[in-house]
Amino acid sequence: MIKKSMFYIILLVFIAIIFSSCGGNDKLEVIKKDDKIVVGFLMDTLKEERWQRDRDIFVTETEKLGAEVLVIAANGDDEKQIKQAKYLLNKGVDILVVVPHDAVVAKEIVDIAHKDNVKVIAYDRMIEGDVDYYISFDNEKVGELQGNYLIENLKITEGNVVYIGGANTDNNAHQFRDGVINVLENYDEINILYDEYTYDWNTSVAREHMESVLNTTDEKIDAVICANDAIVGAIYSLLAEKKMKSVLMGQDAEISACQRIVEGKQTMTVYKDVRLLATNAAKMVIDIVNNKEINVTRVIQNDFKDVNSILLDPVIVDKDNMMELIIKSGFHKFEDVYRNIRPDDRPNY
Ligand code: BGC
Repeated sequence: MIKKSMFYIILLVFIAIIFSSCGGNDKLEVIKKDDKIVVGFLMDTLKEERWQRDRDIFVTETEKLGAEVLVIAANGDDEKQIKQAKYLLNKGVDILVVVPHDAVVAKEIVDIAHKDNVKVIAYDRMIEGDVDYYISFDNEKVGELQGNYLIENLKITEGNVVYIGGANTDNNAHQFRDGVINVLENYDEINILYDEYTYDWNTSVAREHMESVLNTTDEKIDAVICANDAIVGAIYSLLAEKKMKSVLMGQDAEISACQRIVEGKQTMTVYKDVRLLATNAAKMVIDIVNNKEINVTRVIQNDFKDVNSILLDPVIVDKDNMMELIIKSGFHKFEDVYRNIRPDDRPNY
């Protein structure tokens, strides 16, 4: 009898030593109050306007469903993003939602989370490896919409096109580009004069790309297709400084892009209603934690497996449907979009 209790005392001391040897590791510091679900949201960046909206809506919608959200952004730093993942796991999050900075490096986040039995959702950008779910827009379609706009709406089926892509480390950037190229390669008279990724979505790098195009050719540039509106902004400024104009296409329906569109400085953008993305993601996350069935709409192959996914539809926005799609839906305010247009020249609202 005495022997048995001695055995338990020794066992308890042993367990205590193991836990205390994790010194500095706050693994035992679980912040979960009651049974409240805690969601970790790891973002890459808050630089582009859209990400702040993603964050705000995701937090609000998740909280409406009774959970708590811990958000951190890595500001484009892979190591930092991995450390942040460990930090949130140590805080005891029930699930991780990740916008990866680098699709490949972020595999490690999935592996670490799985060791803690925590599932990982890739938000907007796919992660390679054993990621559990993916929720985004149909990103190849974003590029197809840009390519088709050139051909079908602008009837440009010949001439010089420049493609300024996104970050090579972002799976979306590859899909955006694939979509554009898949459309344009059917037109022999379209010459893709330049086609480059832009390091870290950095708009100064995008500007350098365009400078090198202008330094190497005197030919007319019929269109510059850009992977997002922030890049269009940089290209527009450069062309304006040189008193040049071209068809400019982007993506995200940022307020500055919508202003350029109604002012005739940018031709179109691709609108992804991130309000829907964030709201759907919030619901998906809570359902996953509660082991409910998820209504996946697509299965997307990453390097490792078929990932259960929800993909939303992107749509074209130009001068003609700005009012309908952007203003009436409340994505941007009328007075913000038409800020630089004289009141007499504004459409009725
Ligand atoms: C997103 C774009 C965004 C870009 C830069 C992409 O993964 O899909 O909406 O503009 O990243 O942050």
